[in-house]
Amino acid sequence: MKLKALLAAVLLVAFASSALAAGPIVIKFSHVVAQNTPKGQAADYFKKLAEQRTKGRVKIEVYPNSQLYKDKEEMEALQLGAVQMLAPSLAKFAPLGVKEFEVFDLPFIFNDYQDLHKVTQGPVGAKLLKKLEPKGILGLAYWDNGFKVMSANKPLRTVADFRGLKMRIQSSKVLDAQMRAVGSIPQVLAFSEVYQALQTGVVNGTENPPSNLYTQKMHEVQKYVTVSNHGYLGYAVIVNKKFWESLPKDIRTILEGCMRDATKFANDVAKKDNDEALAGVKKSGRSQIIYLTAQERAAWKKAMDKAHRENQARIGADIVREVYADTGYKP
Ligand code: LMR
Repeated sequence: MKLKALLAAVLLVAFASSALAAGPIVIKFSHVVAQNTPKGQAADYFKKLAEQRTKGRVKIEVYPNSQLYKDKEEMEALQLGAVQMLAPSLAKFAPLGVKEFEVFDLPFIFNDYQDLHKVTQGPVGAKLLKKLEPKGILGLAYWDNGFKVMSANKPLRTVADFRGLKMRIQSSKVLDAQMRAVGSIPQVLAFSEVYQALQTGVVNGTENPPSNLYTQKMHEVQKYVTVSNHGYLGYAVIVNKKFWESLPKDIRTILEGCMRDATKFANDVAKKDNDEALAGVKKSGRSQIIYLTAQERAAWKKAMDKAHRENQARIGADIVREVYADTGYKP
């Protein structure tokens, strides 16, 4: 009996130490923005939930601020399995060969978060995520950020004000068309390079939701910020498909629940964070805030409509039509 108990104890120790040696499942989650942005906070919240609910069987390592990879590299790293989870902006999927996500970049297509959620939480959103699977990627959720402001060192009020300005954009052909439609010269740059490019004059201006502008201190190197809400910026949370499907079933189910809760969290904080960021820009006194009149905004829309016409075929006329139907957008 004593021997049996001893044997059991030895086995238990051996088992425990081998389990310990194998260690927890590590999920590297890389992103390019600051921790105190909607995406940064939601990534940290997902980590907290996942580690708690799996009782340490999963460890989430969050790498913010392009610490690990910049925009283009992070997509490659996910496909190669060097990281397991990302939440790139919807404007950054075309280089993967999935151009349909650029529908989210069409200027003035969403009036507000409600319009947006009809798409991201409806059948069109689900259909778009499915398009990632042939690329070895699973789309788990959409996370909100917000509506974009336009910044420069001169006031941007009329369409003519854009003429000749070099404007930094994300890697989206729709954004390229939007900037050209108002006579500016778009330039694709990784997010991590924007502050310096603005500071040194490599580009003259840019667009982003206030949360990104403020946390990257772009307002310190841009004299004017126009609250135009001309376009939307948000995210798809994605994972390496092979990795995700190799997870033990019970773990995957727990992580899916954590993702649902983190998505709610992200979407709950997005508007508030952007409002606070804009208030922060105002308070800093570094940039002057410009609000467009309804007439001025209508003139931007009229000019930027060209980006819709030019990109129907690229995005897919069906997808564009379905989103118009959801949001009531009229060119
Ligand atoms: C940008 O590059 O401007 C944004 O996509 C950054 C981000 O992830 O919000």
